[in-house]
Amino acid sequence: MIGALRSTVGLVSVGAAVPERVVTNDEIAGRLDTSDAWIRERTGIGERRVAAPDEWASDLGLAAAQQALDRSGLAPADIDLVLAATCSPDAYFPSIAATIADRLGAHSAAASDVSAACTGFVYALVSAATQIQTGLAQHALVIGSETLSKIVDWDDRGTCILFGDGAGACVLSAGALPETVFGVELGADGSRGDDLIVGALRGRNVIEMDGRAVFKFATRVMVDSVQRVLDVSGLTVDDVDWFVPHQANIRIIDHAAKRLGLDPARVLVNLERYGNTSAASIPICLEEAWADGRLKRGDRLLMVGFGGGLTWGSCLTEWAGDGPKGAS
Ligand code: ACO
Repeated sequence: MIGALRSTVGLVSVGAAVPERVVTNDEIAGRLDTSDAWIRERTGIGERRVAAPDEWASDLGLAAAQQALDRSGLAPADIDLVLAATCSPDAYFPSIAATIADRLGAHSAAASDVSAACTGFVYALVSAATQIQTGLAQHALVIGSETLSKIVDWDDRGTCILFGDGAGACVLSAGALPETVFGVELGADGSRGDDLIVGALRGRNVIEMDGRAVFKFATRVMVDSVQRVLDVSGLTVDDVDWFVPHQANIRIIDHAAKRLGLDPARVLVNLERYGNTSAASIPICLEEAWADGRLKRGDRLLMVGFGGGLTWGSCLTEWAGDGPKGAS
């Protein structure tokens, strides 16, 4: 699916939350045949956060959502829709979105989870924005929240080094922007599902991945999808203020930035500290850029994700929120 609309729906606030526990590369290298040097060089990851045994995707998602809601100035009752992207939910059901909506007090909101692995946040964002565009909803909370540490095989050095836990959330509102271009591409190739899979049909509930195949797919799709969204939106890379890629591997991000001719200073990266937090990685990056004052109202964002499915998605929009209190 690809297209560009004129829209006034905008991202007005953002929040994030990560678990307290830091697991360094050295800690993993103390148990497995790997090293800090290998992990940094091949992935760009230095450490990741790991949830406590009793800390779940709904807990992290709630903290991120509460922060985003507080920063938006809206009340829980104003929220019409809660969409949570996750591939590591607390349970098959209820959805973490329903749990989060209840705990926030957003009792008039529709709530459901979105399953598109690491592309989940982009899928959820597009879905929420288009539901607002139709007039069905005025304000939506879009959350990406993961506790991947609970579905990682901690004895598999090829996967356990990559993933981390965390959550990010955004509030989207009708009429937040002057009418502006909202460009989207969402895609899926189910024939490649086995390349990145976790679930009961495999007999073990841990992430299994063909790393080289996913790497090749990611480098190609990131570049192509961004280019297609720019084309359909009638823009070029020079019109984009912030490129917000899914944080999976620094070599994937660098490759895409180079091929697209992006200024590295315009690419949001936090992989070194959090690893791959799947659906949470894009909103956590956004929150950091907002909190340190880089993200300004009217800045054009190009978010791009890829992951299990295999899926991919790009979304071009503008930041519609104010800066942190006290920032100019
Ligand atoms: N430490 C040391 N050696 C390792 C490690 C490790 N942690 N992991 C693998 N190796 C070894 C392999 O066993 C292999 O050894 P061999 O040559 O003796 O067989 C060697 O390193 C090279 O392995 P490759 O798989 O070719 O290594 P590569 O450079 O491709 O890096 C990696 C592997 C980091 C997994 C890379 O392929 C990658 O990042 N792929 C993309 C993964 C990804 O983005 N997944 C998430 C998608 S998002 C989602 O939806 C969840």
